[in-house]
Amino acid sequence: MTTIAIIGAGSGLGAAVARRFGAEGFSVALLSRNQGRVDALAETLSAEGIEAKGFAADVRDPDSITRALEAATETLGPIEVLQYSPLPQKDFMRPVLETTPSDLVGPVEFSIYGPVAAVHQVLPGMRFLGKDKGTILFVNGGSAVKPGRNVTGTSVAFAGQAAYAQLLNEVLGEEGIQVSQLIIGGRIIDGDPEKDPAVLAGHLWDLHAKRDRFRLQISSD
Ligand SMILES: NC(=O)c1ccc[n+]([C@@H]2O[C@H](COP(=O)([O-])OP(=O)(O)OC[C@H]3O[C@@H](n4cnc5c(N)ncnc54)[C@H](OP(=O)(O)O)[C@@H]3O)[C@@H](O)[C@H]2O)c1
Repeated sequence: MTTIAIIGAGSGLGAAVARRFGAEGFSVALLSRNQGRVDALAETLSAEGIEAKGFAADVRDPDSITRALEAATETLGPIEVLQYSPLPQKDFMRPVLETTPSDLVGPVEFSIYGPVAAVHQVLPGMRFLGKDKGTILFVNGGSAVKPGRNVTGTSVAFAGQAAYAQLLNEVLGEEGIQVSQLIIGGRIIDGDPEKDPAVLAGHLWDLHAKRDRFRLQISSD
């Protein structure tokens, strides 16, 4: 059995993706800052028959991501799918003219250094699994493609993450590792036919299984 590692695994999209991939036979490594919360989610998933474990990591501390992904591989088996989807902090989202260099440190650590650390940690294992297996999934809000004047930190840093993801898509595609990005415009909405977490998790499954596109954008608001 192989593993999906979900970096930023909470009760919304993270849990829905864990259930979707779990239903397909994946073990699930749940990563977030709060060990108690990921342990509780892992317990809920285990009760549903999904092998899941929680690991504490702060994406703004690259060493903690490396350690948590190492521990996840040791405990659950090789990571076939990496999903990078932590929910950005509210204080990253400031109006453009009120944004100073120090306001951009957090967003850049969160959306650029974090993914680079995570990708470097999982790549050797994905290569070992062989061609057309490994997948790296990025999840972003709409400001990744259309910057918003009142959400400057995420707009600037998501643009950097989107560029990194696209470069990975080009280069890793040549060795059969799929890299895709799901853009969710507006809010995730429980029960919405387009933006319910389970519907979005289905799209992430398709990006992994079909391996036919880089970017999927849901709703343009
Ligand atoms: N929610 C929305 O309306 C919305 C809209 C558009 C796009 N998105 C995208 O959807 C994804 C999130 O989905 P969701 O909102 O349903 O969230 P979720 O899966 O319910 O939870 C995300 C988790 O990210 C973790 N997180 C936050 N900061 C972190 C950090 N520094 N290091 C490690 N983990 C961290 C939080 O756990 P801890 O507090 O324990 O760290 C949180 O539980 C993100 O990619 C986001 O860009 C969300």
